Amino acid sequence: MNFDNEENVVVFKHPLIQHKISLLRDKATGTNEFRKLVEEIAMLEGYEALADLPVEDVEIDTPIETCMTPMIAGRKLAIVPILRAGLGMVPGVLSLVPSAKVGHIGMYRDEETHEPVPYYCKLPHPIEERTIVVTDPMLATGGSAIDAIDQIKKTGGKTIKFMCIIAAPEGLERLHKAHPDVQIYVGHLDRELNKDAYICPGLGDAGDRIFGTK
Ligand code: URA
Repeated sequence: MNFDNEENVVVFKHPLIQHKISLLRDKATGTNEFRKLVEEIAMLEGYEALADLPVEDVEIDTPIETCMTPMIAGRKLAIVPILRAGLGMVPGVLSLVPSAKVGHIGMYRDEETHEPVPYYCKLPHPIEERTIVVTDPMLATGGSAIDAIDQIKKTGGKTIKFMCIIAAPEGLERLHKAHPDVQIYVGHLDRELNKDAYICPGLGDAGDRIFGTK
């Protein structure tokens, strides 16, 4: 699959995003810097992912005169991180849209099957009226993202975007096939998954590196 030409899949080429992802990959990058980089990359990706938010003209009094000028309209935003690594991307998107509501979806990976097991889902209401940005820095097998989006759709979510920092081709293809209507934003498409379902070359365990756990 050529993701460059695939509708609803954006693989970023921006040098700022690429530079920051290279810093993230470095195992010498510590927790504090890692967290900041994840936030900055989420902000840069979010700027593009939210480029189609509808605007409407409103009347504003400038010091010079009254004018009609565009502001974000209608649909409200919900950010839904997949716990726990997705949490690291939330501040970056919130810095763009501070009024966004934040839901949470908890999944853990079964150590043997590598498949996601859901354990928590709390979404802002009314979810069907919101543009929903699901965040997870690592799109590996695609299982958690597919299940999270399944749950959001079951709850009524309609307009859904998925933002990650690094994707494996296997996971990106699986997610896009399962949810072709979802716009997927990828900071960098890596080579492959290894037998333990880690992305190569990747950056290791994103959750551990964001939260300083092991
Ligand atoms: N989750 C991670 O944090 N890293 C990977 O490489 C794959 C899944």
